[in-house]
Amino acid sequence: MRQLKSAEEMPGSYGLPILGETLEIFQDSELYLWRRFQQYGSVFKTSVMGRKRAYLIGPDANRLVLVEQAEHMSSRIGWYFLESTFGNNILLQDGEEHRLTRRLMYPAFHGKAIATYFDTIQNIVQDFLKDWGQRTIPLNSSFRQLTLMVATRLFLGSQNKSEVEQTSQWFTQLLESSMTIFKLNLPFTLYSRGQNARGELVAFLRQAIAQRIEQGNLEESKDVLGLLLAAVDEDGNKLGEAQIINEALLLLFAGHETTASLLSWVIFELGNHPEWRSRLRQEQLAVVGNTALPAIMQYSFPLAPLLS
Ligand code: HEM
Repeated sequence: MRQLKSAEEMPGSYGLPILGETLEIFQDSELYLWRRFQQYGSVFKTSVMGRKRAYLIGPDANRLVLVEQAEHMSSRIGWYFLESTFGNNILLQDGEEHRLTRRLMYPAFHGKAIATYFDTIQNIVQDFLKDWGQRTIPLNSSFRQLTLMVATRLFLGSQNKSEVEQTSQWFTQLLESSMTIFKLNLPFTLYSRGQNARGELVAFLRQAIAQRIEQGNLEESKDVLGLLLAAVDEDGNKLGEAQIINEALLLLFAGHETTASLLSWVIFELGNHPEWRSRLRQEQLAVVGNTALPAIMQYSFPLAPLLS
């Protein structure tokens, strides 16, 4: 098994005293990463806001972190800065606490559960695709809107368009505040706006949870929020209200931008590979028939009008 080397042996630089390479990273993190990757390869060290860090990039590095050396890694140390925004959640947990939460969240992500989300997702996607093919689509921002709509419905239990819009807006404010360097809760700062938005989201979720519990029949839920409420493990452990709220917000954070980027790249690659497109169309026909996805999969793209 490969061993981790000490920081001294790792390429890279800690930058300026205290500040490290913070400014460069915050200015344009993708450019920073690309430059360092060119310079040092897939493993390098840096320092941000007085904390030493290492970047490990690519499949080998992922295997090392997630599998081979997983016991020596701490998610909490890596993601500590999210706690004030998103609370204690699965992403910040290690060891037994993490295993327990994971066990309780698993039923909401089991294949059978995911199948019950299909109609909700399908309805949102149908609506979203209505005018595709008629205008230039800014892919990434459009997909961010789409995944946020799906995520607020499935994770927060938002019921109608106005709830989706309102919760999406609060969540965007929360997200913006999570990236601020100075987390001081002073009036008119980005951080305090985020904390207010968090307060609104928590109140919204508390009400949604109370309503679900009153309605009963949680095991039959067709969204993640309901299944998190229904989850009990073999020892009778359940997620408490505060935990469910933190996990729901984390899922929104973890699930929407990642999936939006993935969708953008999928469309980009499909645009360039007609043979993949036709395989995907065949699969779509087999699963949902010809009428289900009106625009995107039924016309053959020239790529250029779709990308901006
Ligand atoms: C292409 C899309 C996605 C990518 C590339 C992605 C990537 C990742 C990565 C790299 C991690 C590990 C982070 C770490 O431990 O430091 C992670 C964790 C996680 N992701 Fe995703 N993700 C995606 C989609 C989603 C979606 C759709 C959801 C929710 C429905 C989600 C929920 C989570 C959760 C809950 C964790 C923490 C898991 C744990 O600690 O056990 N992700 N994701």
